[in-house]
Amino acid sequence: MTAQDEKPPFLYVVVCAAGIASGVGKLIAAARERQWQVGVIATPHAMNGFFDTAAVEAQTGRPIRSAWRRPGDPRPFPEPDAVVVAPATFNTINKWAAGIADTLALGTLCEVSGLGVPIGVQPCVSATLAAHPAYQDSLIRLRGMGVRFGSPHDGADGEEFGWERALDLVE
Ligand SMILES: Cc1cc2nc3c(=O)[nH]c(=O)nc-3n(C[C@H](O)[C@H](O)[C@H](O)COP(=O)(O)O)c2cc1C
Repeated sequence: MTAQDEKPPFLYVVVCAAGIASGVGKLIAAARERQWQVGVIATPHAMNGFFDTAAVEAQTGRPIRSAWRRPGDPRPFPEPDAVVVAPATFNTINKWAAGIADTLALGTLCEVSGLGVPIGVQPCVSATLAAHPAYQDSLIRLRGMGVRFGSPHDGADGEEFGWERALDLVE
């Protein structure tokens, strides 16, 4: 294979409905600088005003995916070389660990867990929710599946969210 045949690596960015999601453009800009092609998959809740969807589509050059494609439609994104979930909510982390696939984001996460590609997660979960035993069990289960976690963020104002750290986790 020549250098010209090599496709740029493709990164899935899964966005959940946490307040901090409004900053996801920082992650996409950093990923583009690191030569990733980016496809965003957002939860249905995240599409409901949590980030600027038009700006993200302009940044990635691709429509955001949030719903399942129709049978017979082609897959809109290529297979991923890596996946980051940022921000990751309490809800999505617990459902993913439990194997629930009732949104495209969750179905994708459950599926890519078996692909062997690196998966990095930046949770945004309050300390009180993080203390729930189901959440602690979910972290153990996902870590056991090889999923990599960045340092937790509790959504408090003034604290920097680790957008670039999410990329470091998969490189
Ligand atoms: C303004 C706002 C901010 C929120 N921030 C968070 C958050 O930081 N972390 C979290 O786990 N849930 C947060 N939630 C609650 C989630 O949106 C809710 O649990 C939702 O079901 C998550 O859906 P998803 O995991 O499918 O994106 C927030 C809700 C609202 C309305």
